[in-house]
Amino acid sequence: MIVLVGFMGAGKTTVGRILAGRLGLPFADSDTEIEQRAGRPVREIFATDGEPAFRSLEREVIADLLGGPSIVLALGGGAVENFETRKLLADATVVYLRVSYAEALQRVGGDDGRPLLASPGLDARYAKRLAIYSEVASLTVDTDDRHPQALCREIISRLPAGAED
Ligand code: S3P
Repeated sequence: MIVLVGFMGAGKTTVGRILAGRLGLPFADSDTEIEQRAGRPVREIFATDGEPAFRSLEREVIADLLGGPSIVLALGGGAVENFETRKLLADATVVYLRVSYAEALQRVGGDDGRPLLASPGLDARYAKRLAIYSEVASLTVDTDDRHPQALCREIISRLPAGAED
């Protein structure tokens, strides 16, 4: 089980898809699964139900995915803020895609599907999460100025034995 974490714009979905293809594993994205389950876009869940409700649905979806067959799973950038969600990652190989704040904003700026981009204190949230991503990571890869294919090659070369199980 391989799980990708990192801030918005780190490339979790793009890299995750390529990685899954290379490893011959299915790919899943927690935001997509949440939207399917809720029947609404993430933006609307935040607006109508609020962030705590989103985090709780996110935790349920991640628990279900991690309880199933081995996959490459891209998590939403804030999933690891939830303590219960962090505990679910204990047996997975967690790849942290590190991105600088400036590059993250450049990559995702103006995307209205990401409700937190418009919220106050985004820089403080970024700063707070850095330590959490590092704490859950089995391996960390820097993504600034790098191509997804190159990142995948690096990740595959550094995956511990049994990561795909
Ligand atoms: C969030 C990141 C988003 C999505 C939601 C909240 C966050 O996922 O889960 O908008 O808290 O950082 P991406 O990291 O895929 O953009």
